[in-house]
Amino acid sequence: MNPTTPALRYAFALLACLWIGSAWSNEAPKPPKAGIASANLLATDAGHQILAAGGNAFDAAVAVAAVLGVVEPESSGFGGGGFFLLRRASDGKTVMVDAREKAPMAATRDMYLDENGEAVAGRSRNGPLAAGIPGQPAGLVHLAENYGRLPLAQSLAPAIKLAAEGFPFGKKNHALIGFRVDILAQSPAAAAVFLRDGQAPEIGTMIVQPDLARTLQALADQGNAGFYAGEVAKTMVAGVRAAGGIWTEQDLADYRVVERAPMVTQYQDYQVITAPPPSSGGVALATIFNILNGYEYENLSPLLQNHLLIEAMRRAYRDRAIYLGDPDFVQVPTEMLLHPHYAAGLRASIRLDRATPSDALPGIETEPGGTDTTHFSIIDRDGNLVAATLSVNLPYGSAFMAPDTGILLNNEMDDFSAKAGTPNAYGLVGEDANAVGPGKRPLSSMTPTFLVGPDRTAVIGTPGGSRIITMVLLGALTLIDGGSAADAVARPRIHHQYKPDAVSTEPGAIDADGVAALSEMGHVVSPNERTWGNMHVVVWDRADDRVDAASDPRWEGVGKAEVK
Ligand code: DON
Repeated sequence: MNPTTPALRYAFALLACLWIGSAWSNEAPKPPKAGIASANLLATDAGHQILAAGGNAFDAAVAVAAVLGVVEPESSGFGGGGFFLLRRASDGKTVMVDAREKAPMAATRDMYLDENGEAVAGRSRNGPLAAGIPGQPAGLVHLAENYGRLPLAQSLAPAIKLAAEGFPFGKKNHALIGFRVDILAQSPAAAAVFLRDGQAPEIGTMIVQPDLARTLQALADQGNAGFYAGEVAKTMVAGVRAAGGIWTEQDLADYRVVERAPMVTQYQDYQVITAPPPSSGGVALATIFNILNGYEYENLSPLLQNHLLIEAMRRAYRDRAIYLGDPDFVQVPTEMLLHPHYAAGLRASIRLDRATPSDALPGIETEPGGTDTTHFSIIDRDGNLVAATLSVNLPYGSAFMAPDTGILLNNEMDDFSAKAGTPNAYGLVGEDANAVGPGKRPLSSMTPTFLVGPDRTAVIGTPGGSRIITMVLLGALTLIDGGSAADAVARPRIHHQYKPDAVSTEPGAIDADGVAALSEMGHVVSPNERTWGNMHVVVWDRADDRVDAASDPRWEGVGKAEVK
């Protein structure tokens, strides 16, 4: 290992950060084609339709997100939120539009605890008390008004049509509704749309959403006022409060998206541009890359590579648990966490021959105990980039639909740490930084990311709760290593998140000898029978003048990646 390498790489990274805004626009060639990869073929088609009508990647993003909100209700929607990472080719502006949900102003730190001070999972996961104030509608309005070329109404039109005329209930809609049928059944409005006689609809059943079509038309006609004020807002708040929620019309009126500077780091000769807080994704990804930067990772044996990945993941997720939260409310020590000396300190605690038990790291105590979201990637023919990860959190969100609005609400409040050290639905733990607070955004793992190398630009992301960050990491490593979009989405996955102290592996990710060797080093390897994630990648190979796109083979036939 070359001791000068990390320092040199840091200097390079600094230069790259300074260079990032200025040089982008000089990056001469334009992509020969446009690529869109999303979790649903109707959404990818709508995006291409908007591009063909003269829209740019940002208009296409509005169309894709809106259609996903109609046809993939288990994953995202107008009752949810998310992050849109954008890069505008004309001036190199790179920004993250933070359309994350916010806690209503009546939220309190202990609102999900019972009289004994224990977190009650159902309260932060089911019904309107679990829902943050939605950000997706404001996000789409913001994209259309500030970055798009077409009127919002035009980009929303495909979604409105699908809501009014219906879409056939698909394989993935069906696979995920199983987890939520009982809770959906408690919301008459949700049950009327998504259940048949109280049960999951059969595949192919037409799901028609006339209330949603009306609400989306109001958004198309009036912009934010069509959703965050007036009749829609009034009806939503009345429905939420009648069912035990705490939203007010003021909460809706006060909702704003925030433009945030993306997180930028360097790994080998690639610039990694990704989501800053209130996502933990960028900081965690940067921490892992910074740790790996100190080794000649690409030349190590597969066993050592896996060992280092696991140890880096463990440390990044520990920091996530302790330091990360909404930067508008807590001081996130980003500079410290991303400093190369900090990474060097983390590296110094890694033994090359032994696993570090998570409990051996200074950290937080956990109590014993214990998909869905969406991502799409777009590159248009001007070279504009969009990576968007959007969510209602668990499948079908809180499973509560505000009557007469068609809006299925998120349960993103479960992404807060309801009680220090008590794991959330994804087993993630946190402390004060991510405690519930009025007006605060819950910490996210969503990691929409751009990779910019000497010859290639890639747009990558995936759903998958706490595993999003490690999936993006592995996909990025494949791309940086020269792999194709298809290689990146197909790569078998491993994951460690500090607590629980175990490595999850997808089938085929590590062979039996590899598992035995890792166990010998002290790792607890817990092979999963199931796969996870739903990654969508678009790659622009500037040297070969080629655009390539791929959707995750784990949901074959549901997503669609198309270049045209
Ligand atoms: O923001 C987050 O980190 C979570 N709400 C994402 C949830 C998710 O990805 C579920 N998908 N499998």
